Amino acid sequence: MRTTMFERYGGFSKVRGIVSDFYDKVLDSPSLAKYFTGIDMRRMIDHQTKFVSQMMGGPASYTNEQLARVHANLSIDARSYGEVVDLLTESLEDHGVEAADVAVIRDDVMSRKVHIVTIR
Ligand code: HEM
Repeated sequence: MRTTMFERYGGFSKVRGIVSDFYDKVLDSPSLAKYFTGIDMRRMIDHQTKFVSQMMGGPASYTNEQLARVHANLSIDARSYGEVVDLLTESLEDHGVEAADVAVIRDDVMSRKVHIVTIR
């Protein structure tokens, strides 16, 4: 039987560690940190853990409509989006996710760009 990436890499606790490191990188970035001023990062880690788990074939589901709604008023440009995707990629690699699996997650995230970027 085929297992999902979510199962192979160790479920929510593993994904949470990756996502937690990812947000450390985001907050260390001078261009990205400003987006997260006043945001409850514990809550963000919870949400993003669910989102990344979903991309790894695990439970939880975020629709593109939800993503569009939460990012609608954040004035996110393509450059910031690209930076976030790169930091997520780096965090997955840091935690030993295989290149082929990283590529699947990266492609999935890139396909959501149109729902998140609002400044051209
Ligand atoms: C790369 C793809 C991205 C994904 C998959 C993603 C996913 C998410 C998710 C799942 C949430 C939580 C939604 C909820 O509250 O239920 C969220 C919120 C948020 N995202 Fe993103 N995001 C992405 C890119 C970005 C980028 C590029 C920025 C800014 C540079 C950003 C800034 C934020 C902020 C500030 C919030 C909190 C909004 C609030 O609570 O008012 N996101 N994102």
